[in-house]
Amino acid sequence: MTAEVLVLPGEGIGPEVIAEAVKVLEWFTTYRDLELSIRSEPYGVEAYKRYGTLIRDEVFADLLQADAVLFGATGGPEFDALPREAKISGNLLAIRKHMGVYANLRPVMAYDELSDVTSLKSSAVQNVDLVVVRELNGGIYFGEPRGRELISDGIERGINTLIYTTPEIERIARVAFELARTRRGHIHSVDKSNVLETYKLWRDVVDHIGADEFPDVPLSHIIVDNCAMQMIRDPKQFDVILADNMVGDILSDLAGAITGSLGMLPSASLSDYDGNGRRRALYEPVHGSAPDIAGQGIANPLGAILCVGLVLEHSFDLPGEARLLKQAVRKVLAVGIRTPDIQTGNSRAVSTKDMGDEVVRALTRLSNG
Ligand code: NAD
Ligand code: IPM
Ligand code: MN
Repeated sequence: MTAEVLVLPGEGIGPEVIAEAVKVLEWFTTYRDLELSIRSEPYGVEAYKRYGTLIRDEVFADLLQADAVLFGATGGPEFDALPREAKISGNLLAIRKHMGVYANLRPVMAYDELSDVTSLKSSAVQNVDLVVVRELNGGIYFGEPRGRELISDGIERGINTLIYTTPEIERIARVAFELARTRRGHIHSVDKSNVLETYKLWRDVVDHIGADEFPDVPLSHIIVDNCAMQMIRDPKQFDVILADNMVGDILSDLAGAITGSLGMLPSASLSDYDGNGRRRALYEPVHGSAPDIAGQGIANPLGAILCVGLVLEHSFDLPGEARLLKQAVRKVLAVGIRTPDIQTGNSRAVSTKDMGDEVVRALTRLSNG
C-alpha cells in the first residue's frame, strides 16, 4: 500500500508555508526513492466555512490511518470569531490527544549562516544543536478541573489543573533518554519542583527512569526560571531538554530566538508503536498562524520545510534524505536568500514562494552532484 501524508494547512500563514513544504515533499516523491500519496484537506476556519466544523469526522478518523500528518497553523482573529462550541471539537489539542502523539520533538539548530540574524552574540549561538522534548498529551493543557465561574457579584474565578501521573512522566522520560543516547547524550529535565508538587513527582520519576533504565545517560535537573536564563546565556550547554507541556511550549519559542527566527523551527509529535510496528506522527512548525504577516507572502517557510525532513526521518526512516534537505536549506541561507524575518544588510529578501523554490533548486543541484 502506498504511504499517505495527510496535509492540513489551517489558517493564517499555515497555507502559505505548507504550500512550500508540500513542494519540497513532492520533489522527494518525484526525484528520489519515496512513493507516497499526498492528500490535503481543509482545516479550521476554511473547513468551518465549508462544512460547519473545524475538521470533518472522516478526516478526523483518517488522522489515525495516515503515515504522517503535516499541519500548518491554527488560530488568529477569524478563528477566534467562530462560535465557542465550534472551536472545541477537532481543535489542535483534540487532534494531538486523538492521535496519542505525546512526544513532541522540537529540534533547534543554529545555522552558522544566520549568526548575524540572532540578537544573541554569534559566539554564543554557534553550533547550538539541541532538542526540546515536550510532553504533549497531558499537564495543565488537559487537566481537570478547568474552567471559569462567577463566584460572586462581578468576581470570577479561573481554574486550570497541572496534573501528571507516573506513567505519563515515565513514557516521555524514556523518549528523552532514548534520544539522548543517539546524540551527545545529556538530558536537562526542567521543572518547578521547588514550588509545585506535580513537578516534584516529575523530578522523582525522571530520576528513577534514569537510574533504573539509562544509567549511562547523564541527567541534570534544572528549575525552569534558571533554565530560561541559561538557554539565553549559554545555549550550547544543552543537548536534550525534557519538559512538560506548557514549559516545553514556552522554552521552544524562546529557542526560536537562538536560531534567529521562530520561523526556522520544525517539530514532530509521535505516538508509541502499535502491535504492527506503526506509530502515528504529526508534524507542525513550532510557530503559529502569525496574523501580523499573514496573506503577504513573506512568512518564512523553512520551519514547515524542515518538518518534511522530520517526516523523512521519523515516518519513512530516511535519515540520509533528511540530511540532504538540511544541506539544501544551508546552501540557500549561505547565498543570502532570506525571507524578511531572517534578512540582514546584504542579503536579498525573498517571498515565501521564492524560498520554497530556492530550496527545491538547491536539492536538485545537490542530488545532481
Ligand atoms: P506566532 O507564532 O503566530 O507569531 C509570533 C511572532 O513570530 C509574530 O511576530 C510572527 O509574525 C512571527 N512569526 C511566526 N512564524 C513566522 C514565520 N514562519 N515567518 C516569519 N515570522 C514568523 O504566535 P502568536 O502571534 O502568539 O499567535 C498567533 C496565533 O497563532 C494565535 O491564535 C495562537 O494561538 C496561534 N498559534 C498556533 C500554533 C499552531 O498552530 N501550532 C502555534 C502557536 C500559536
Ligand atoms: C504550539 C502552540 C500551541 C500549544 C497552541 C496553538 C495550542 O503554541 O504548538 O506551540 O500551545 O501547544
Ligand atoms: Mn507554542
